[in-house]
Amino acid sequence: MSESTKLTRRTFTAAAAAPLLASAQQQGALRARLKIDTERVIGDIDPLIFGNFIEHLGRCIDGGIFEENHALSDANGFRKDVFEAASKLNVTQLRWPGGNFSSNYHWRDGIGPRDQRPRRLEMAWGTVETNRFGTHEFLQYAEQMYTEPYICVNLGTGSWTDAQQWVEYVNSAEDTEMTRLRRKNGRQQPWKVNYWGLGNEMDGPWQMGHRSADDYGKFALEAAKLMRWTDPSIKLIAAGSSHFASGIDWIGWNRTVLDHLKTHIDYIAVHRYVGNADNNYYEFLASSRDVDARTKTVEGLIDAATSDMPNRRPIYIAWDEYNVWYRARGNKERGRRILEEIYNLEDALVVATFLNSFINHAHIVKMANMAQLVNVIAPIFSNDKGLFLQTIYYPLQLIANNSRGKSLSVFLDCPTYESKKYGAVDYLDCSAALDNGTLVLNVVNRHRDQPIEADIDLQDRRFSGPVETAEVNGPDIKSENGFGKTLVKSTPGSARAEGEKLRYRFAPHSYTMLKARLA
Ligand code: AHR
Repeated sequence: MSESTKLTRRTFTAAAAAPLLASAQQQGALRARLKIDTERVIGDIDPLIFGNFIEHLGRCIDGGIFEENHALSDANGFRKDVFEAASKLNVTQLRWPGGNFSSNYHWRDGIGPRDQRPRRLEMAWGTVETNRFGTHEFLQYAEQMYTEPYICVNLGTGSWTDAQQWVEYVNSAEDTEMTRLRRKNGRQQPWKVNYWGLGNEMDGPWQMGHRSADDYGKFALEAAKLMRWTDPSIKLIAAGSSHFASGIDWIGWNRTVLDHLKTHIDYIAVHRYVGNADNNYYEFLASSRDVDARTKTVEGLIDAATSDMPNRRPIYIAWDEYNVWYRARGNKERGRRILEEIYNLEDALVVATFLNSFINHAHIVKMANMAQLVNVIAPIFSNDKGLFLQTIYYPLQLIANNSRGKSLSVFLDCPTYESKKYGAVDYLDCSAALDNGTLVLNVVNRHRDQPIEADIDLQDRRFSGPVETAEVNGPDIKSENGFGKTLVKSTPGSARAEGEKLRYRFAPHSYTMLKARLA
């Protein structure tokens, strides 16, 4: 987390920012100071914060990653172009099968010969589920991508036994009816899936099989026991609440669920989607402050719930759904072409600030999954002929491929603007990662119109050699990509540091990665 000192801050209100620009320009470029001490470590960055998510929803799986008998697909039906673009995102973990879909998913429907699998009404998103993509297909996809699979079990309409037997089918090496079935279906060795979710968004009335916190806590505990007794090595993720529908006591939900499950879970899951429906750029760009605040609250709830357990197993936070999502959203999300959000530059900057928030809370946020991978609120958008990379693809790609090792606390002194929801917000948003002498700085300049010139000082090390840079930017904040149109992309470059000092000018409305070797 950046230490915020307000020494000589200049504060602008979001609404008043434009009139003040003229005078700021007369005063010269806006300036900022960043100080980095490599011993000020927040925590280890868990690679699982660069996870993603595929759900049986719209064209994410069917018509996204999976199109049987398509010229661009392989023999398994996996779209090769989509696979290649997804692989470049360094997807460290892939969550499946939902989402809301998981709450009425009966995993036995999705195994065995594809042509004999049942077609079922799908009620979360109003389609017919063919079940042609099931457990074997998902785990094969994950294996091919070298990504950790994460399966969310059905704790809506499903039973304890369903959940337990799914773990047995997937992970057990014993000779049982379940493992014989797996072998009969073509898989000899267990897959050994480590991550298992105890249902999805069970706090919401929109969920099939929605329960009260108390009922969910009791039900999930029995499922957790059976699942863990089937494979003691698995990690369990409880369905927390993050209150994005009115009337839900999200704090009470999380506290109750933690009380029931604290001896059995490894993570509590929270979700966050944000948008710019009222077209207020500066308010929207401050959205990650909400993620920061909720992370702190949930961390406090974990501490409170486990205060009487001195040698407890750690419980971490999993932001296992997050993104910008507001245009393709309403009450009519039913059918095949739904949630097909087209992103612009400001959305990409917000995604970068979310990722900064996860890195800045690396001690407690140990998992995060962008929702979702393809077509449905996604960084990759495909059609029958090919694909294009959405604006949000670029910061995710740069941060996921480069930010590893230890998260460092960055001292930041920079001009601020006044947000209605969040008070003073720094124009710059940063995170820093140090891995084996390589320092990576992720910086978003939220300023819509002005560059910010920053003096970056190392407190205890020196820069060694040139600094690699990559800037994600575009002609203006509303620029979008499309088929044959790449207005927002990442541009590589370099910068010169001297000794322990680096001066860098961050362009307006940009995300920049600086990567340097340290002596
Ligand atoms: O990601 C889209 C949907 O958003 C998921 O199915 C659900 O968990 C959330 O409400």
